[in-house]
Amino acid sequence: MSDPVELLDLARTIARDVGTEAAERRQTGFSWSTKSSSADVVTEIDTWAEDTIVARIGQARPDDGLIGEEGTNRTGTSGISWVIDPIDGTTNFLYDIVGWSVSIAASDGTRALAGAVYDPVRDELFSASLGGGAHRNDSSISVSSKDELATALIATGFGYAAERRAHQADVLTRVLPHVRDIRRLGGAALDLCAVACGRVDAYFERGLSPWDSAAGALIAAEAGAHVVDDALTWACGPQLADAFGGLIEGAGA
Ligand code: IPD
Repeated sequence: MSDPVELLDLARTIARDVGTEAAERRQTGFSWSTKSSSADVVTEIDTWAEDTIVARIGQARPDDGLIGEEGTNRTGTSGISWVIDPIDGTTNFLYDIVGWSVSIAASDGTRALAGAVYDPVRDELFSASLGGGAHRNDSSISVSSKDELATALIATGFGYAAERRAHQADVLTRVLPHVRDIRRLGGAALDLCAVACGRVDAYFERGLSPWDSAAGALIAAEAGAHVVDDALTWACGPQLADAFGGLIEGAGA
């Protein structure tokens, strides 16, 4: 089966279970190391979470493909593949700062069909299925109706490579003077969910990996956002899209 609603049920259940247990495991201590740079952290709980999500999906849907941040890369035969970020916002997780989440999406190879992002600290489960709207827990959510940059709150994020970060900091000098303020919340999945529920008016970031954005981009789109998810990922309410797209393009984002 590839009914988006059934895929969504599975994504929601697993994201909530794994996020809840990850938060519990965090309390008893954990080991961690670095990956692509000294800024890029992975904890033993990221690895545990990915292994658990992969096992649970594999049990329920043995023919599906799976790709995950911590190395999972399994080709399936069903036409459905799952895109997993076991803990998005790992730096927040490491430092016990709110803003990490478990992100799980199901795709048919060309587009996301279902996505769930669970924030255990706030007990907020964001989710969407294609054509089914977006929800936070059981309530429907929608993007902000902001239509001017000067009063728009903008979220962004930074990659892990020093050269990219230097450029991203430079871009901010050209964006910040034109908007209400900037937020660096620390997790791309929840940044996109923040757009979806109107907590921020827009978000942009260059260089995300598929697992960072797969679920959040669907949730934002289903909440009514204008979403672009390519080398540059950005999302905002439709009434801000022309102005915000022009601003970040002009800033060299
Ligand atoms: C990172 C977070 C961060 C974003 C980085 C991502 P990770 O994912 O989403 O907010 O700025 O680009 O790589 O490493 O915490 O899963």
